[in-house]
Amino acid sequence: MSLKKIHEDQPKEFKFNSENLKKIDEILKKYPKKNKKSAVMPLLYLAQRQNDNWIPLAAMKYIANYLSIPYISVYEVATFYTMYNLAPVGKHFIQVCTTTPCLIRGADKIVKLCKEKISPHENEISKQGNCSWMEVECLGACVSAPMVQINDDYYEDLDEKSTKEILESLIKGKPLKPGSYRGRKNTAPEKKLNTNGENHA
Ligand code: FES
Repeated sequence: MSLKKIHEDQPKEFKFNSENLKKIDEILKKYPKKNKKSAVMPLLYLAQRQNDNWIPLAAMKYIANYLSIPYISVYEVATFYTMYNLAPVGKHFIQVCTTTPCLIRGADKIVKLCKEKISPHENEISKQGNCSWMEVECLGACVSAPMVQINDDYYEDLDEKSTKEILESLIKGKPLKPGSYRGRKNTAPEKKLNTNGENHA
């Protein structure tokens, strides 16, 4: 997994829009006034949403001022967690889980396909201009390994064929549906059996 890349071309300014300022008011109500620094994670998330799915340094400074905390306290959170993007990502952003359960069920083949179809390196925008990918740690869907997250959705129970179809659909700008690619419903056992060995609806 590559180190997080800070984008070289940084905007000079960042301000939350009025809609997000209202959301921040609501978020801050969840914390005692003396602990408002705890809101750093949801504020970073809002900044990312507002700024095309990546967080500029100006947004970290803005959040630090807003919460009256040192800039480094925001920077260290933003650079630690993989869910915060510090450089532009593709409109279709593919996060490939390569932790052990996904890896032993073929995540390495998904990475290989991403390199072939999207870009040779992680965190690089595809030549078509609409996709990027990166490896991440466990996304909590090990029961559906191997899997990827694309924007907000999980694509599960993948193999080479389904991954290829999904990636090609993204490149064409017509993403296939998320969910299980072995037709499982809510990660229930295959062959329509529940954990008691009975058929489920
Ligand atoms: S190991 Fe891939 S989702 Fe947990």
